[in-house]
Amino acid sequence: MEHWAGYPQRVWRLLRARWRVVVPVVATLVVLVPLTVMWNNSRLPDSYDMAAMGYADYGGGPGAGRHRHDEGVPVADLVEPADGPADVEVTLTVHQDGRSFTVNGSSPGPTIDATVGDRVEVTLVNDNVSEGTTLHWHGVDVPNAMDGVAGVTQDAVMPGEQFVYRFVADRVGTYWYHSHQISHEQVLGGLLGALVVHPVEGDPSVLEQVVLLHKYDSGPALNGAEGTTTLDAPAGQEVRVRVVNTDNGLAPLWVTGAAYTVLAVDGTDLHGPTPVEGQRYDLPAGGRVDLLIVVPADGARIDFAGTTALVLGRDPVDGAQTTSPKKAVDLLTYGTPADLGLDPEHADRHFEYRIGKRPGFLDGRPGNWWTINGHLFPDTPMYTVAEGDVVVFEIHNGSDDTHPMHLHGHHAVVLSRDGKPATGSPWWVDSLEVGVGETFEIAFVADNPGIWMDHCHNLPHAQQGLVSHLMYMGVASSYRIGGEPGNQPE
Ligand code: C2O
Ligand code: CU
Repeated sequence: MEHWAGYPQRVWRLLRARWRVVVPVVATLVVLVPLTVMWNNSRLPDSYDMAAMGYADYGGGPGAGRHRHDEGVPVADLVEPADGPADVEVTLTVHQDGRSFTVNGSSPGPTIDATVGDRVEVTLVNDNVSEGTTLHWHGVDVPNAMDGVAGVTQDAVMPGEQFVYRFVADRVGTYWYHSHQISHEQVLGGLLGALVVHPVEGDPSVLEQVVLLHKYDSGPALNGAEGTTTLDAPAGQEVRVRVVNTDNGLAPLWVTGAAYTVLAVDGTDLHGPTPVEGQRYDLPAGGRVDLLIVVPADGARIDFAGTTALVLGRDPVDGAQTTSPKKAVDLLTYGTPADLGLDPEHADRHFEYRIGKRPGFLDGRPGNWWTINGHLFPDTPMYTVAEGDVVVFEIHNGSDDTHPMHLHGHHAVVLSRDGKPATGSPWWVDSLEVGVGETFEIAFVADNPGIWMDHCHNLPHAQQGLVSHLMYMGVASSYRIGGEPGNQPE
């Protein structure tokens, strides 16, 4: 007892005598301990339920306190009711060769053509992609279990395995498919292709041309071909050009020698579009645009990002360089208004999706990471809705880079940009370029139950945490990120 009585005083004397050592040690601990705790907290478990991550955001609507992600209809059950045989049946075999991927032996893979209303059945066969793969139907609002997101809507398909996707192509338009397993590598490496849903009564006098843009290791390509592609078309021929941007950045395009009309954006026809001349069109990553061009006697030429070109008939500039027009088509005012089919004035939920950046740890890695509403992945909002809700999102880009934002399973209509209301054709999107400092208001009807990714389609950004989800109440998860199949959607 005697021995312990003077202990505090002795320690104190020692600390005072050694303050030159003690002060820096304490200061270091004050910094290091919280950093270590932050680092450790940020580390993701080997496997986790995406729906259990983050925090539920009910957007001012009902639900708080009673919605559970582990109760309800499992995602795996959210499939297309299987009545009747398929109208379109395709087998897509995926092969990996180093950093490159092919689908049925080429990249892009085959274009899938369907007619609206068709039952589409695609069998994905993984030949040798060792880390597993999936197919996501970008822009097609398929039932949730067909959405192809590894760890959220299915397990990654391993070498030698198959997975059958079934959905009804219920809207006309230009779409594409791509892997959603380790997508920042597999999409870049070419695991992708186009999907076109044609109207029942097409116009046979219009020539159709898909233009799938992709930057390979070897360079930028148009349907896999570098440089200029020429389409034989006589003067007076109408050509519908369906452009798909599968890259991580914006693809500016412009037309020389002819005017063009923007027929459709992200698969939805525009209302009252008129021909434009001398303006470029900025196609967001993941986005699609359908252009109508009437081929003039001297031909027309479309330049894509100044790297590839499509010539219709003759080349009006004989292969000479063209320059990008300064002015771009602004869809906020293009075309004429029409009924939106939803009432955003009486929305059931209002969400904010504020994109920023801050230093922190992402799965144990220190860095300057993307944030959503100030939070780092996976502590990002789980936007929670009920089926039938009218939902309004305010997307604000407060970061130093642009973000092509993509919501799965739904099409949203743009209401305003930077407070300026949309006054042109209804502008429905699934891939929306949100520039630095911009704010968009978009609205949609929550009519497709499931757990849906809502992320940046600059895929390295998604891999760096710019990922959130839209979740329906009454839906339960069926899959986990990580685990045995190594599910890794980004
Ligand atoms: Cu085109 Cu989540 O993807
Ligand atoms: Cu981004």
